[in-house]
Amino acid sequence: MVIRVVYYSWKGHTEKVASALAKLLDAELVRIEPASDCGVAGKAIRALFGMKSPIRPTKTDLSGVDTLVIASPVWAGKVPAYVNQYLDSVTGGGGKPFHVIVEMGGRGDQSAIAVVRKALERKGMKFGSSGSTIEKDVESGSFLTTIEKFADGILKP
Ligand SMILES: Cc1cc2nc3c(=O)[nH]c(=O)nc-3n(C[C@H](O)[C@H](O)[C@H](O)COP(=O)(O)O)c2cc1C
Repeated sequence: MVIRVVYYSWKGHTEKVASALAKLLDAELVRIEPASDCGVAGKAIRALFGMKSPIRPTKTDLSGVDTLVIASPVWAGKVPAYVNQYLDSVTGGGGKPFHVIVEMGGRGDQSAIAVVRKALERKGMKFGSSGSTIEKDVESGSFLTTIEKFADGILKP
């Protein structure tokens, strides 16, 4: 099974989660990189209103990929505009499963997961599972237990 883990991370927490997950899943790791930047208020507002912001060219075609995993920080109870842009650009996912993991300070995980779910289901993809991690657990390392369970659910559904 070919698994691709796609993530965006500003401060490194989601990167830690996505990298650990990709290792456990023996998956390809793809980073979403912004093509432009704005201040933190702009970041929050753009996330809140479900807007898109330009990203650098990256792997958006899912030909040859069986399962997609999206790892994103929670911003304003939603996901960053860069993630919205990526989700909008995905092609070739029809009928394929996807899983979502979000990383947060402490609240808004379910609404953020719902954003990703809606965007990919609109593309004909099939929701598999979701999970969330908390910033302080990523910093202490205790997030690994959560990630292991999440990975198990993907490998042995
Ligand atoms: C613009 C912005 C909005 C945020 N909104 C939320 C939020 O609604 N809920 C929450 O729990 N954390 C929120 N956070 C905290 C991030 O989710 C958290 O710091 C996460 O670890 C960031 O991941 P990163 O280090 O990969 O960038 C927000 C952070 C930023 C920068």
